[in-house]
Amino acid sequence: MTMQIVRSVADLRAALCGGPAPAFVPTMGNLHAGHLALIAQARAAASAGHPVVASIFVNRLQFAPHEDFDAYPRTFERDAELLAAQGCDLLFAPRESDLYPEPQDVKVHPPAALADVLEGAFRPGFFVGVCTVVAKLFNLVQPQWAVFGKKDYQQLMVIRHMARQLALNVEVLAGETCRADDGLALSSRNGYLSVEERAEAPFLAQTLRDLAAAVPAGPFDAAALERTAMDRLRARGWSPDYVALRQQDRLALPDATVAARPPLVVLAAARLGRTRLIDNLEIPAA
Ligand code: PAF
Repeated sequence: MTMQIVRSVADLRAALCGGPAPAFVPTMGNLHAGHLALIAQARAAASAGHPVVASIFVNRLQFAPHEDFDAYPRTFERDAELLAAQGCDLLFAPRESDLYPEPQDVKVHPPAALADVLEGAFRPGFFVGVCTVVAKLFNLVQPQWAVFGKKDYQQLMVIRHMARQLALNVEVLAGETCRADDGLALSSRNGYLSVEERAEAPFLAQTLRDLAAAVPAGPFDAAALERTAMDRLRARGWSPDYVALRQQDRLALPDATVAARPPLVVLAAARLGRTRLIDNLEIPAA
């Protein structure tokens, strides 16, 4: 089956009208193997006859004025070919005027405890932009399943929370992070790295693995572990925004005094030259 490409909301609605609910993968394009794995996961989740829909939309609302909205790589032709080859049935690629025909002044504000920390502390308004566009896309596509990568762990948690609290009729599925052979998490922003920076970049994942290995099963000092990890990054020329140990559920601060360690996740964001990379690693309960 050839993949259909639609741009306008009217064409999207016409294409989906009366059919079985899709499995949906929203993206900002510049696709890599990580996105294609999410498409494969959507295909596997969708029962027979349910289409797989992807969207490509670089969402201005989630970029701060100083961020890379204009420079964000736009590679539509290649992305469309990759999606078609991966078995995507329908690509929704709206223009800004399709999705935001008037200034978007109704916005979805996720709770501060979940969304104004970590990424949200360094990128104010980011999760308002993400939640607003994802809610709007969900409303248009009406998916039964939606797949988001664990690479953007906090985003996944925020969207799950939004879907639960707004009683959206969608099952939010988590896709595992895809990594290069040297451990670097795949990201559209890796393309900004120089050859030297690309060689150094896997050290972020290494730092997370080392920190995870250092968390004992019993009581632990989370702040000390985080500090050590940030110092190691700084010593190699990185500028870390944060390295943070959190509980997987709701990203709550870990209770480091409990005897039985709950499932944790360590999340990090750090700049290497001009490129800001994020990564995370889940740490199972002990
Ligand atoms: O993760 C992304 O690519 C974006 O934040 C998303 C979910 C497509 C919303 O613009």
